[in-house]
Amino acid sequence: MGNSPDVDNQTDPSVLLDPQRLPRHVAIVMDGNGRWATRRGLSRLQGHQRGKDSARTVVEVARDLGIPYLTLFAFSNENWQRPAREVNFLMALLRRYLMTEAKRLCKRDIKLIVLGEMERLPASVREVLEETMRVTAGNRSMTLALALSYGGRQEIVRAVRSLAREVAQGKLDPEQIDEQLFASRLYTASLPDPDLLIRTSGELRLSNFLLFQLAYTELYFTDTLWPDFGEREFLNALVAYQSRERRFGTVPTSGVPARAAN
Ligand code: IPE
Ligand code: IPE
Ligand code: MG
Repeated sequence: MGNSPDVDNQTDPSVLLDPQRLPRHVAIVMDGNGRWATRRGLSRLQGHQRGKDSARTVVEVARDLGIPYLTLFAFSNENWQRPAREVNFLMALLRRYLMTEAKRLCKRDIKLIVLGEMERLPASVREVLEETMRVTAGNRSMTLALALSYGGRQEIVRAVRSLAREVAQGKLDPEQIDEQLFASRLYTASLPDPDLLIRTSGELRLSNFLLFQLAYTELYFTDTLWPDFGEREFLNALVAYQSRERRFGTVPTSGVPARAAN
């Protein structure tokens, strides 16, 4: 894939990583569980099961590196249209993940937040999520944002509706609406824009993820399927990020590569 083999297979990517220039916010579209499983003659559900381990790994690695914000796309608005058996399995898996991981999140000082329509999730999942968010609310070392029942377009429409309501009530002058106010009505209000977006499994699309927030994010696509994505692959993505020059529409500076926007 065009942008992934920045590191050969022999080199340990951690020696190439500059700890001073890590992204502040990494967002990941965790894709390819189904294909990972079907290629092995397994059911798609077993792919999701293995995908959970990759999620655990990237959370640990990001936390160890000191990356302050990590967002994982775990379930999209459109994923509700999958067969009920798969949806139910994913919900049960999420519940189990949270139940086993809550202690660890606390121990590692990680705060959990959710992006998306939490109200659409089954009550059994919502309860565990709310409890995990409650017990991790004071944690400061990293914020883990799980995008669940999330869609970028739906998020934008929801933000517009919230602003329109205030205008209709006479509480807000339309002239006051700027990028910052708009962003404050998105699920990601408490997060900086992602510096790096990773998508696994070779698909070259956003699939309705963070449409507003990704305006100047560096994009990294890899053919690796999500269950095969481990520490090494994650570090490779970070090394690739550090080789980019972020220009934000301006002219090149004297070879100063990838800097976080905020
Ligand atoms: C990503 O893997 C997990 C979710 C979308 C929940 P997929 O289930 O999309 O796997 P593929 O893309 O079919 O291989
Ligand atoms: C995006 O993957 C959603 C998640 C990874 C949760 P999909 O597999 O749903 O996306 P498409 O259908 O390939 O665009
Ligand atoms: Mg997919």
